[in-house]
Parts: sequence; structure tokens; C-alpha cells
Amino acid sequence: MSLFLSIQRRKHLRDSMSNSTPFFVLFCLLFALAQAETRTNVHIVYLGERQHNDPELVRDSHHDMLASIVGSKEVASELMVYSYKHGFSGFAAKLTESQAQRIAELPGVLRVIPNSLHQLQTTRSWDYLGLSFQSPKNILHSSNMGDGVIIGVLDTGIWPESKSFNDEGFGPIPSQWKGVCESGQQFNSTMHCNRKVIGARWFVNGFLAEYGQPLNTSGNQEFLSPRDANGHGTHTSSTAGGSFVGNVSYKGLALGTVRGGAPHARLAIYKVCWNVLGGQCSSADILKAFDEAINDGVHVLSLSIGSSIPLFSDIDERDGIATGSFHAVAKGITVVCGASNDGPQAQTVQNTAPWILTVAASTMDRAFPTPITLGNNKTLLGQALFTGKETGFSGLVYPEVSGLALNSAGQCEALSLDQTSVAGKVVLCFTSTVRRATLISASSDVQAAGGVGVIIAKNPGDNLAACSNDFPCVEVDYEIGTRILYYIRSTRLPVVNLSPSKTFVGEAVLAKVAYFSSRGPNSIAPAILKPDITAPGVNILAATGPLNRVMDGGYAMLSGTSMATPHVSGVVALLKALHPDWSPAAIKSALVTTAWRNGPSGLPIFAEGFPKKLADPFDFGGGIVNPNGATDPGLVYDVGATDHIYYLCAVGYNNSAISQLTGQSIVCPSERPSILDVNLPSITIPNLRNSTTLTRTVTNVGAPESIYRVVIQPPIGVVITVNPDVLVFNSMTKSITFKVTVSSTHHVNTGYYFGSLTWTDGVHEVRSPLSVRTEIIQSYVDDN
Ligand SMILES: *[C@@H]1O[C@H](CO)[C@@H](O)[C@H](O)[C@H]1NC(C)=O
Ligand SMILES: *[C@@H]1O[C@H](CO)[C@@H](O)[C@H](O)[C@H]1NC(C)=O
Ligand SMILES: *[C@@H]1O[C@H](CO)[C@@H](O)[C@H](O)[C@H]1NC(C)=O
Ligand SMILES: *[C@@H]1O[C@H](CO)[C@@H](O)[C@H](O)[C@H]1NC(C)=O
Ligand SMILES: *[C@@H]1O[C@H](CO)[C@@H](O)[C@H](O)[C@H]1NC(C)=O
Ligand SMILES: *[C@@H]1O[C@H](CO)[C@@H](O)[C@H](O)[C@H]1NC(C)=O
Repeated sequence: MSLFLSIQRRKHLRDSMSNSTPFFVLFCLLFALAQAETRTNVHIVYLGERQHNDPELVRDSHHDMLASIVGSKEVASELMVYSYKHGFSGFAAKLTESQAQRIAELPGVLRVIPNSLHQLQTTRSWDYLGLSFQSPKNILHSSNMGDGVIIGVLDTGIWPESKSFNDEGFGPIPSQWKGVCESGQQFNSTMHCNRKVIGARWFVNGFLAEYGQPLNTSGNQEFLSPRDANGHGTHTSSTAGGSFVGNVSYKGLALGTVRGGAPHARLAIYKVCWNVLGGQCSSADILKAFDEAINDGVHVLSLSIGSSIPLFSDIDERDGIATGSFHAVAKGITVVCGASNDGPQAQTVQNTAPWILTVAASTMDRAFPTPITLGNNKTLLGQALFTGKETGFSGLVYPEVSGLALNSAGQCEALSLDQTSVAGKVVLCFTSTVRRATLISASSDVQAAGGVGVIIAKNPGDNLAACSNDFPCVEVDYEIGTRILYYIRSTRLPVVNLSPSKTFVGEAVLAKVAYFSSRGPNSIAPAILKPDITAPGVNILAATGPLNRVMDGGYAMLSGTSMATPHVSGVVALLKALHPDWSPAAIKSALVTTAWRNGPSGLPIFAEGFPKKLADPFDFGGGIVNPNGATDPGLVYDVGATDHIYYLCAVGYNNSAISQLTGQSIVCPSERPSILDVNLPSITIPNLRNSTTLTRTVTNVGAPESIYRVVIQPPIGVVITVNPDVLVFNSMTKSITFKVTVSSTHHVNTGYYFGSLTWTDGVHEVRSPLSVRTEIIQSYVDDN
């Protein structure tokens, strides 16, 4: 309990006051500890798979269980927050520490765990600008744009008036839909749900019990209803399944038609995140939304939500997402989650359970070049989203100081600007950080001193758009920054003219994995490749709520894995429409094995970071999502519930924990199975000694009579043999198992090297990413 409170507090503080003194943090922890004895907190009592089919019986059993501890049915009703009765069984209730302990001892209780909070994944790049995402034409049409498919979005709700949620031309609501549209503050179910937004609910009890005070709903800061006060949920929902809206741009940049990935899919909105500290979502509410969504009949669930490192385990309900998605996937629902925005450091990827489809973020083949013309008539190009008027030739200064302070001269973080020398001029500064806050503060310092623009020399990272769009805030790399500096030093009266940004789209701009996108390896199970795939997540134009962020007609450009995730959710909706019989694992396999490892244009994909390097599977999984390729993958690595149980045994969770999660009596083999054998569309070996052999099974989903041959691109110093190396499918043989023997020729420990294993019939290329690290001297702890 006390531990829980301290974790809880720490999470808040980390986000909201990262600069606060240790003393303040300590004070809060101590305060929290002192409160722990008397305070009730929301606990999730998790009972695993439900024991009755009748939800009313399940709910009654929860009330009886709670009443047996708290003394009466009346008190139990007051303390009950949620009963989870559709997808799985359990409840959330306000309990003291000792009540929680007593419930934990009751028969049938898997675990009693404190509620925990999650955050939205775009806090870092909320105000970005960008370009509409054109999804590929063929699958869009062959899948009838996702008609008949229902995408559930767990997020901050929606702004229902957005044109992106118009239902013109939509037929009746699909008959399998069993969900509801709930009215609430400024949300009238009759007016605000339609044939596009077919369901909308909100789940706040877990959050409120944790937050300990009512949400401030004055000034439209929050709504106790599905209405989105934040904008994040409107953006992600409209990216996944928004209708067509013509003529949308950001002040003329990136003009085009905006639409979701599956414009004819239906949306079911589950508001679980609340507009406090940038967006907070409680695991009790998330689990309740999963519970309802599984019952409502959604096909895809899209979650741009994460927690923080260290991650909860796959079977820990404090995660909410791992547990909820386990049950959803078992019922055939694909769950798509963001990898999070903690890159470019390694091992920062979140939502790592193998049943989840985990999405990284990449840039598109697009740039916003901004001409910088110097007084010597040379024009250099920077990057900005500057939509104002050109500055005309103005003075150009580098705030240079002499003497001991030389090292901090011209640092964007420490601009000492003298109004008389800056007024009416453009300032050049250098920064070693990539953080958005630095750009914003440098830009506002210069603006406050009467400057007319700022040129910031920096590494790529948090980009552009951090500054106001009418004030030119142009990014350049160190090389161009240095050339400008030399120009300043070469002349007595340096001048510069900054022109508005242009939109440039084309092959010459390489796609990159975004700086902020969280990277593998997976910190829970390094042998399970994460992220799985990448999708555009930088400068994405989509609908938003008009509150607090008045953008052109309610559209905003945002960046984050939050924006990448609904791109994949939309593509999954198209695949579900085209292949209703494919399992979530088959869909994931189709996406991973067909992803573009060399961008859509065939050019290499880089990963932003220090240094920028070619992207590898820990940056982007299989590569950039290739929607048309995924419609016809040839072969799939399918996985069912038994494979997930096999995985749980391989990771080393115990029989009772696995049995209660799955609702079946599971006894793992006495010799722990190898995690390398989980039938994934990727192979990741974190600790290769001299040699290991693993198995995979492929299922033919293409022409019945096909012959596939293997093509290996081995990682450096690794020898791979595949047996058999030819697979012959016919109308009788749909699935074939093969063995892969991986041997290292290294005599020392190495880092990861990457390669691929591809099955090809001359038409299809079924490519699995290979990642292998040799460990002659054991340093990776493997308790197999
Ligand atoms: C919701 O809208 C409908 C149709 O406009 C109206 O008849 C109804 O009174 C509204 N309900 C509420 C609670 O405002
Ligand atoms: C709620 O927000 C309003 C501004 O919209 C503010 O004036 C008020 O003080 C806030 N109330 C509380 C209790 O924080
Ligand atoms: C888009 O806007 C332009 C100018 O405002 C107008 O000429 C054009 O017809 C519009 N196109 C559509 C499809 O609405
Ligand atoms: C720059 O170009 C302008 C017009 O093209 C010309 O008048 C001016 O002399 C040029 N300046 C230099 C330094 O070359
Ligand atoms: C099984 O694992 C859970 C959580 O990992 C733990 O709480 C429990 O004590 C374990 N049970 C046994 C029988 O080892
Ligand atoms: C690894 O190499 C050693 C020495 O050559 C050999 O004894 C051992 O059997 C090998 N292990 C495997 C798994 O191949």
C-alpha cells in the first residue's frame, strides 16, 4: 500500500514537476505514507476468466464477495467502483489496506492490486503541425474502406461536432454492435452519436477515486461525458476512422483531404483518460473499458496510452492494458498500442506483451524547407513551419560574449539579450539539446527582446512547430549554423531575410524513425521483438477539439507514437474487412512480414538519435507499415491462445497465475519451454552461445498450390540453416513447421547484429527480422 502510494506520487511528480527539489518529492512521499493507514484506495480484485455466462450472476457474486468483507450489501454498493463481468471477472472497489488483504485471502481471488495511472503518449509534441496521411488506394477500395468494421478507441473521448465524424452516406449500424451511446455534460447521445460514432461512453470512477477531488469542469476544462476536453482522443479517433473532409490545411501548408485510415469504419469511443497533467488514465477504468468493448462487438482496439519504465509484468493488472488486451485478443479483437515516446534510448518500448501490436513512429517523405537568405545573397535552407510574412532583410546577431563566458556564448538556453542590440533583428543560437522547451524559450526570449526571428542550430530531435507559426523560428543543423556564424563574423553589418516555409513532398526526403519513438529491446522479454512495426507519427494533421487550441477549423498537426498507433488501427480495420477470418496474430504477421524495411520509395530508413543510423528492428520492428502488401502476405505465422500460454510458461510465470489469467487450469511443462519457439513473425536471440535451434510454423493464406524457398540474410558472424528449406503447400497441406539453427562464429560477446529470414514463392516475400546477440561469457540473465 505504502509502496503503491509512493509510486503513484512519483509518477505524478515526474510528469508535472520534474525540476522540483528532492526535498519536495520526499515531503510528498512521507505525506503519502502517513495517509496510507486510514485512506481507502481503489483496488482491482481480479478473478480471471468469468465463471458464469450471465453477467448479472457474475456481478452479484462480486457484491456478495465485497459484502462479506465490508459487513453489508449497502456498504458494498457504496464502495464498488466497477464490476468486470463480460470479458473477464473481477471488480474495482475502494478498500483500506486491511480490507484489501482480507479479500486477497478469499478463494478464487487471483490478486488484489492497487489501481495505477497511465499517461497519454503525445505530451511532448502536442502542438505540432503537419500533413494529411494518404493511405494506399488498393486496399482502401478492396476493403470498401473498412465498411462493417468497428474500431474502439480508448482515449480522451471525442469532439463530436468535428466534420471528421460526419456520417453522410453511411448505412445502418452493423447488427453485431451491442454497445451504447451515453449522454453526459455537453454530450447528448441523440445528437452526438450517429452512424459513424456508434458508441460513446466514459469511465471515470477509478480515476476520481485516485485523484481524490472532483474534476474541474468549469471553463470547459473537462466534461463528465464522452466529450473530449483535451483533443488527443479526437485526433487519434479521426486518424483511425475519420470520414473524408476536403480542403483542410494548416494555414495553407499541407493542403489536402483529411480522412482516417478506414474512412467507412465505425467508431466506438471509450473515454478513459482525463484532462489532468496532460492526460491521466487509471488502470481500473482501462480494464472496465476493455471489459465493455469485448462485449460490445468491436473488431479493433486502438490505445495511444502507456505507463512508464519500469514496466509491470504481462500478468500484472496494474498494467490494465496487458491484461485487458489478453482477453480481447483471445476473443479475436486486434489490440494496437503505441510504443511510447521515450526514445531514442534503448529498452524504452512499452506495451510489450506478444499479443499486442506495438507501433513506433516515423516521419514521412516530406519536409518544410524554409529559405534563409544572407546579405551575401547566398540562400541556405532550414526547416520551420513558418506561415507568416517574409521578414525582409534584417540585422543578424549572434549573442557573442568575450572572456570566461565564451563557452556559453550563443547557447539558446542562456541567451542574454540586450534589447537595444536585438530589437528588429534575427538571432542565431546553438543548442546541444533537442528539447522542445528550449526552442520555445529561445523563441520567446528573442520575441520578448523585440527580435524578428531566431535561427536555432541543433541536432534533429523534437522538431519544428514548437514556436508560434507567425514568428520565424528556423531549425538548421550545425553545419549550416556554422556557415551562418562565419558569415556573421565576416561582415560588419550582417543581414538575413527569412521566407515562409514551403511544403515539399517527394522521394528525396528520407523517412526516419522519429527521435522520440521508444526503442527495443523489450525490457520484459528481450526475445520478443518490440516494437512490431512503425507508422507515420510526425506532424499528423487530424481533427481536434477546438477548446484551448484554436486551429484552422478544428484540425491540428500533432506528433507522437499516439499519432502512429491509429494509423495502424485504421489499416487493421481495412484488413479485418477484407479478411474477417484472420486472427489477431495472422493480421500482425501479415503486417510485420510485409512491412517496408527500405521505405515505400526503396530508399533506406534512418533512425533519429545520436548518431543517426540506419534503422534496425529495435527501432521499427518489421519496418514501415505497408497496407497493400499486408492484404496478400502469402504465408502467416499464426498464433492462438495456446501459444500465448506457452509464452507465459516460457517467461516463467507460475501455473496458478497463468490459470487464473486464462480461466483454464494450466500446468506448464516441468522443463520450461523456450521462448524462442513462440510462433512470432520475427526471431530475436538475446543470448546466443554457440548454437541454438528453434521452430516456427507457417500457414499458407495464398494460392493453395505454392512452393516457397528460404532466403537468408544472416546477421554478421552468424550462420543460419533452415530445415526444410523448401515448403510445398497444396490443398491438403496448409501449415508446415520448420526448424532454424542459428550458430555464432564469434568468440567474444557482441552487440546485436541484424538480418532477415525470407520465404519466397517468386511473388510473395515473407520476411522475418532477425536480431542476434552472441554471449560467450554470460551477462544476460537467463534463468531457464
Ligand atoms: C437531446 O437532443 C434531442 C434531439 O435534439 C432532444 O430532443 C433532447 O431533448 C436532448 N436531450 C437532452 C437531455 O438535452
Ligand atoms: C476551475 O477552473 C477555473 C478556470 O476555468 C478556475 O477559475 C477555478 O479556480 C478552478 N477551480 C478549482 C477548484 O480549481
Ligand atoms: C477548396 O477551397 C478552394 C478555395 O477556398 C475552393 O476553390 C475549392 O472549390 C475547394 N474545394 C473543395 C473540394 O471544397
Ligand atoms: C545581391 O543581389 C542583389 C540583387 O540581385 C544585388 O543588388 C546585390 O548587389 C547583391 N549583393 C551582393 C553582396 O552580391
Ligand atoms: C505465482 O506468481 C504470483 C505473481 O507472480 C505470486 O504472487 C504467487 O505467489 C505465485 N504462486 C506460487 C504458487 O508460486
Ligand atoms: C558448444 O560448444 C561446445 C564446445 O565446442 C560443445 O561442447 C557444446 O556441446 C556446444 N553446445 C551447443 C549447444 O552446441
